[in-house]
Amino acid sequence: MKQAPPVPGRVDVASIGEDLPLLEGIRTTLSIRRLRPEPVPPALLRKVCEAGTFAPSGGNRQPWTFVAVTEPERRAWVAERYRAAFDAYIAPARKAAEAPDFPAARRRNIESAAWLSDHLHEVPVHLFVAGRLRRGDPQFQSVFPAIQNVLLACRAVGLGACLTMLHLAHGRQIDEYLGLAEDNPSCALIAVGWPAVAYRRPVRRPVDEVLHFERYRDADEKDAKKKT
Ligand SMILES: Cc1cc2nc3c(=O)[nH]c(=O)nc-3n(C[C@H](O)[C@H](O)[C@H](O)COP(=O)(O)O)c2cc1C
Repeated sequence: MKQAPPVPGRVDVASIGEDLPLLEGIRTTLSIRRLRPEPVPPALLRKVCEAGTFAPSGGNRQPWTFVAVTEPERRAWVAERYRAAFDAYIAPARKAAEAPDFPAARRRNIESAAWLSDHLHEVPVHLFVAGRLRRGDPQFQSVFPAIQNVLLACRAVGLGACLTMLHLAHGRQIDEYLGLAEDNPSCALIAVGWPAVAYRRPVRRPVDEVLHFERYRDADEKDAKKKT
């Protein structure tokens, strides 16, 4: 595991993160679940949420709302519920992971997610992102670009972050706790804190496997097979 940078003492919010090249930041943003308990300055949180507000949205409706939970008792309340949802969700995967041939990468992912679940109360910021309904329907497609911007901004300023959604298993209970009305439900909980591990390039499918020009390649191969 590569060395993580030390937690900065005083942060110059105006300048921090401004010099990271965009594409390098994109290529080295991954889920960081091992987060340190030291607090995150509210002005820095404001900065990463501001990056969120520059996202595109349908009709420029900007349906997002951010609620940052930082008080220890409130984080403990959230974490308790997250853990219950996680335990139920992960149980089948944990069982499957007992098999000796279970892929090591997936096992690491389960362990990492479990670590976050066990330590969520210690994570200094639970950043909830809510999205106003439109004609009674969620506008997730207009909230997730903002969420991605927040994740990238966290990377740029040196914060670690992990997007999660398991709190949704609790239905309205958590939204009520956050003061979110029924027409403005939360859709994500981003764990944010100073990283305890270093950034690196995440494992992803190679672009040449997923990029096609003009037509989906497999469709052409199927057509060719039909002709022979
Ligand atoms: C829609 C969505 C929901 C996710 N929910 C969770 C979650 O509840 N808990 C968690 O630990 N990670 C969650 N993740 C993070 C994924 O596990 C992570 O992006 C994926 O495993 C790739 O990991 P990497 O970015 O570290 O390479 C979620 C990611 C997305 C996009």
